[in-house]
Amino acid sequence: MANVICVSNQKGGVGKTTTSNALTMGLSARGLRVLCVDFDPQGNLSFSMGVVCHNDSTDTIYHVIKKERRIADAVRHQEFCDVLTCNVLLKTLDLEFTGAGREYLLKQALAPVQNQYDIILIDTPPDLGLLTINAFTASDYIVIPVLCDTYSLQGLIQINDTLRQVRLRSNPRIQVAGVLLNRFNPRETVSGVVRQTAQSIAQSLGMPLFDTIIHSGVGLTRAQIQQENMMLTETDSRAVSDYRALIDELIRRGVVRLHG
Ligand SMILES: Nc1ncnc2c1ncn2[C@@H]1O[C@H](COP(=O)(O)OP(=O)(O)O)[C@@H](O)[C@H]1O
Ligand SMILES: [Mg+2]
Repeated sequence: MANVICVSNQKGGVGKTTTSNALTMGLSARGLRVLCVDFDPQGNLSFSMGVVCHNDSTDTIYHVIKKERRIADAVRHQEFCDVLTCNVLLKTLDLEFTGAGREYLLKQALAPVQNQYDIILIDTPPDLGLLTINAFTASDYIVIPVLCDTYSLQGLIQINDTLRQVRLRSNPRIQVAGVLLNRFNPRETVSGVVRQTAQSIAQSLGMPLFDTIIHSGVGLTRAQIQQENMMLTETDSRAVSDYRALIDELIRRGVVRLHG
């Protein structure tokens, strides 16, 4: 049975897609069978994984949810992992599904392939709407990237409220794997303060803060724009080695299990 991890934060530009990409590439390099699911209608993860997903594409997670495609036929087999893509059509989901059980759509869609993977990673949109609720309902763990500023940290309170509701209604199992400080710049004197503040806010919400911090690094952006595997092409990047350390930490914390 795959462990399901979603990467989420209602703010845009905090590193959800970058983290989804890095974890997918890094975990597959450790020999795990990884499926990454692009669940943000912007389709950024699909693109960075090298999949061209046009607006008229009919083999996306949206079509699987609508039962217009079998999931096995929609999964794209890429060099390093499998990818379930999406496009802008996914946006219409909350208008099309209004009845009871609408938070289980993604979980039900993924069920037939759960046994074929060790890890399923879900990238989410920058809001706490139906798509994110579906990702929370389908997941065992959530990784929450935040920027090193006060407003990002305040956003944790809203995520926590949503998680509380999800635990009551559709998924009592979901746990916060950790809050991940991203785009850390040690030259900014405020960085140390941010770390301390993050620690105390996370603690007051009962969320662990990852020991690992992701430094700022242009290599992450470059690899994604060029649709390359950052773990292989940006080996000199501090940020890429941070993501490797994050994977070690996920293993240490029992969020990810290696074979054997
Ligand atoms: N640690 C980092 N250092 C430098 N750039 C980063 C870092 N993390 C993310 N970025 C860049 O910031 C932008 C937003 O990141 P992204 O992962 O797309 O955020 P989100 O998915 O939360 O909207 C992208 O251009 C990405 O390459
Ligand atoms: Mg994104």
